[in-house]
Parts: sequence; C-alpha cells; structure tokens
Amino acid sequence: MAYTVRIAETGESFEAAADESILDAATRAGVRLPHECTFGGCGTCRIKVHEGAVDYEEFPMALTEEEHEDGYALACQAHCRADMLIEPAGKGLEFAPSFATTATVVKVEPLTPDINRLVLQLPEEVELDYRPGQYMNVVLPDGETRSFSMASALLPDGQIDFHVRRIAGGRFTETLLRELKPGDALHVELPLGTFCFHEEDWRPMILAATGTGLAPIKAILESLLDNDDCPPVTLYWGMRTEADLYMKDEIESWAGRLCEFRFVPVLSRPGEDWQGRRGYVQDAILEDHEDLSEYAFYLCGAPEMITQAKQLFVARGAELDYIYSDSFT
Ligand code: FES
Repeated sequence: MAYTVRIAETGESFEAAADESILDAATRAGVRLPHECTFGGCGTCRIKVHEGAVDYEEFPMALTEEEHEDGYALACQAHCRADMLIEPAGKGLEFAPSFATTATVVKVEPLTPDINRLVLQLPEEVELDYRPGQYMNVVLPDGETRSFSMASALLPDGQIDFHVRRIAGGRFTETLLRELKPGDALHVELPLGTFCFHEEDWRPMILAATGTGLAPIKAILESLLDNDDCPPVTLYWGMRTEADLYMKDEIESWAGRLCEFRFVPVLSRPGEDWQGRRGYVQDAILEDHEDLSEYAFYLCGAPEMITQAKQLFVARGAELDYIYSDSFT
C-alpha cells in the first residue's frame, strides 16, 4: 500500500509505502526534508500535517502528546495512513551547505576529569560558515560518526572547538580522544543541524542546558554578546556537582554584555555547602515562572530532559513554535 505525500510550500510530491517513514520515502524520491538524528530523538524533522494521518511503530521521544494532538509529526518515524499534505515545521532559515574535510588537532585539554575541550584547525582553503548552535560529525575509520556541537560563536583563523564528555566504553570519547595529539588528522563533516538563535522571534529567552549541552548554548550566547537588540536572557545549566561547572566564571563574566542576563546553575548532587539551586533545570524553570507563554526556549541536553521539559512548559503556557531543542545521548 502506498500513499501520496505533498509538501504544502513547494508543491513537491512523492509516494510513501505504509511501512516506511515519510523521511525515508522523501529521501528515496530526492525530496529534501530537514533531519538530523533519524531515530526520533532530536525533533528536527518535525512536520505539520495539514491533511492525512500517521502512526508510529513506537511513539518517538522527541514528540510530545500535545504536539501530536496539535497535528505535528516526526517525519523520520511517522508512517502514512492516508494521502498527506505536510509542511516542514522549521521557520525557513537558510543554512550554509555542509561539507567533508580533514581537520588537524590543535589541542585536547581537560575542562573537568570527564570533559575535554577539543580544538581543531580547518584547512586554509576552507571558508567556514555556521550558525552558532550547529554541530560537526567526526567520521571514524569505519565510517561511523560521532556528533559534537561547535562550542564557540567564532574562533580566529579557521579554528573550531568542542566540549567532549567521556562516555565509559565510548570508542571516540574514551579511546580515540585519549590518543589524539596536536597535528593528528580527523575526518569531519560540518556544519550540520538546525539548532540556532531565532532572531525573528524577539522574545525573552530561557536557555536550558545539561552537561555538555552547554556547548551550543554557549556558542549562541557568545554571538549575542554586546548586541543591544538582544532579548532578555536567562540561562539554566544543570550539572551534578560544583566541580562540574567548568565554565561558571566565564558565563558570569557575560553579565553586562547580554541584555538582562541571569545565570542559574542547578546541581543534582551538590555538596552540603552549595548555596545555589538543587535538582533539575526543568523544575527550576517551573519554580521561577508561573506563566511561560511569553518566552522562546532553547533546550540542549539528554532526550529525557528535553521531552519532559517540553511537556511541562507547554502545560505552563509555552508555545511549541518557540521551543527549539537539540538532544543527544
Ligand atoms: Fe527525526 Fe531527529 S531526525 S527526530
């Protein structure tokens, strides 16, 4: 059984079998739909379903029940159950095309016992153009990839940097990264992803990061430093202990360079002396805001945090069209 899928804006159409995802069918037909993870974890492939119906083998992590009821679907997981009229839910931003190249390791330096900063140099002939918030793939020798967000708005001389958390047993984060030394080559693909600042919203911003999810959030905020048109910014950063807050001083130094900047570190396992917030970022945001209807949200961290945050925030009045997220495991 096959269904016809039409894209509202462009008029393009393709056939989708009942047992394949809309994204797979689009890719097979040469129709480009935004996507990243392809496993239902990031939400980048969100589409608005104007006509038709979909279902899922397993309801995807990055879609909330509210989004589903409002007629949104995730193209990488949704299977057609009728002829469809759909529209990518992104806001039509342009992104520079991605490319593959060989970068050179400049340095690997520890930020905490578990987190390293990796700095790479791109070849001279490469003109890098990315939106802060986007990410890069490291291509391993067997073709597998690992994704890391650029951690700075822009570094001089074609350099890029990343915050890499060591994952027990991780081929790149534990083994390869430990062996890397200045001058080594790394095959990379970039820029990728659609997570970025949405200037067109101009709403007070609440940014929530957990762990190294801080990296793309840091890049976005660095791009807004000393910008008089920047909306008010509140940053919540969730970590386990005081020792994990590897960029606390630098973030605090942004006060005065971002409009109405408030920084709230939230620790899940603080020491007894910790005077700050305890628990989880999504709960801290709810504690601080009775009504979330006026804000734009930028969420980056574990899929569980993002899924829960979206549900909780929507229940507090947040609009899905102003919740941007980038999840990673
Ligand atoms: Fe579909 Fe990530 S590409 S959720």
